[in-house]
Amino acid sequence: MNSWADVVLVDVDDEVADQLLELAKRDASPDEVAPPVGGPGWNLERTAWFFSYHHAAAAGLDGPAAEKSWAVYCCGRIAGSVRLKRDTEADIPTAETGIWLGRSFRSRGVGGAALRLLLAEARRAGMARVTARTLAGNGGAQRLLAAAGAALTHDDDGTVFAVVEL
Ligand SMILES: CC(C)(COP(=O)(O)OP(=O)(O)OC[C@H]1O[C@@H](n2cnc3c(N)ncnc32)[C@H](O)[C@@H]1OP(=O)(O)O)[C@@H](O)C(=O)NCCC(=O)NCCS
Repeated sequence: MNSWADVVLVDVDDEVADQLLELAKRDASPDEVAPPVGGPGWNLERTAWFFSYHHAAAAGLDGPAAEKSWAVYCCGRIAGSVRLKRDTEADIPTAETGIWLGRSFRSRGVGGAALRLLLAEARRAGMARVTARTLAGNGGAQRLLAAAGAALTHDDDGTVFAVVEL
């Protein structure tokens, strides 16, 4: 088990984005990291999507993409990524989140620590609510979100909607 202090969030610059992609290729499924643009696996389109996504998200919640991504580091090693995207339709300040970790960093408390840090970032950015959507079959994500205080709603389309009031 890692302690809180072992897990930090780091802004994604070009060098960190390269390290994240290397981790994703080595230690995660492509579908956990990026939408399936251009077909399965890490093709040119999906790789281009990955870099342009993190580049746009570098401008933060107040930038044109209204989105911010971070790399998660655990014990000085790159472990995965978390993101926040402002929900411009919501009636109170709300951001949607997502997270992925390399397989070798899962089930050790890293996700829980990263999510707590992310919620603190959301609070600092003035958000009142953070939401996430995951698949009904993703027990790990649901446990992670519930442990962070999320209320979970099972929808008919096979997804689960999570809401954390900050
Ligand atoms: C989901 C994910 C981020 C969880 O991170 P993690 O570091 O493994 O989670 P933690 O070790 O901090 O565990 C958090 C809670 O989830 C539980 N958990 C973690 N993995 C689990 C699994 N595969 N099945 C069931 N429960 C699991 C832990 O027991 C813990 O519960 P507790 O606090 O009640 O003890 C990680 O497994 C992952 O990257 N998965 C692939 C991508 C993904 O599914 N992202 C979520 C999309 S919304």
